[in-house]
Amino acid sequence: MKTPSASLLLGVCVLLLSAPTVSAVSLSVSPNLQQFFSGSSSVSLSCDDDGQTADGWTVKRTRGGLTEDCGAAAGFGRVHGSSCVLDRSVSSDGSYFCENSSGQQSDEVSIIVSDKGAILEIPALPVRTGNDLTMRCRERSGDTAAAYFSFNGRPVGSGTAAELVIRRVKQSDEGLYSCATDAFGSSPQSFLRVRGPPQHRSSDSTPPVNSSVDTPSSPPQGLTSFLTALIAGLVPVVLLVLLLVLVRLLFHCKKQNEANDTHQADTDVVYSDVRILTADFLGPVPDSALNP
Ligand SMILES: *[C@@H]1O[C@H](CO)[C@@H](O)[C@H](O)[C@H]1NC(C)=O
Repeated sequence: MKTPSASLLLGVCVLLLSAPTVSAVSLSVSPNLQQFFSGSSSVSLSCDDDGQTADGWTVKRTRGGLTEDCGAAAGFGRVHGSSCVLDRSVSSDGSYFCENSSGQQSDEVSIIVSDKGAILEIPALPVRTGNDLTMRCRERSGDTAAAYFSFNGRPVGSGTAAELVIRRVKQSDEGLYSCATDAFGSSPQSFLRVRGPPQHRSSDSTPPVNSSVDTPSSPPQGLTSFLTALIAGLVPVVLLVLLLVLVRLLFHCKKQNEANDTHQADTDVVYSDVRILTADFLGPVPDSALNP
């Protein structure tokens, strides 16, 4: 009785934990980087739902406690289609995120535009666990530089390396990365975000570099509603099974109580027998005691 209900509970927990986190919207940066040298080219930001443009989401920036919409504030981006286009100037530094009209927000991405000597090539979009990742240190000329890489302030490996390769990214690889070169100084630190594997469409790990995404394609929506229906269908079944287990447990307890009661009654009988026996053992009460 104990083992099946325990494993059932475990099963329910696993089911609840593995329920798909309905596709989270991320801030997509093109090129997919967090650090840039100041320069003439631009950076394009958009709100991305598993590789698709997320309708109804706006790119925002927080800087110095102030939150602004792309295109609305002076000096903060131009809206171009569903993208927010930023200049690569130091004034574009800030924490960017997506928000919809209900106030739901994506994770933040800190975009750093540097006029110093080195930057770290680190993706802006979360990396999926299980994928490989390569980070490089770049100098202003665009060349990669041999560098000391560090993770959460601690050196990775010993000495310099041309690149930092992480095979099969794990959740524990999430954190702050930077690089330092002998000739060009250190890069700023940036946060690498790691996310679990996608629940559907396991093929694409890198989002398509495609700025005109206007296709109202529905496969992910179909899948989402299928999964929703599946979960909605499973919940009553799980509840029913739990109820059955509960009823059986109650029944079991009741039976055990009854058994205990019967046992109690037996003991009483034996007890009274003993008393009678004891009386017999003492022998008949003398008549003199009854009739003085
Ligand atoms: C905002 O996003 C949340 C989470 O994705 C969603 O539940 C909500 O319906 C969205 N609001 C609007 C107005 O689209």
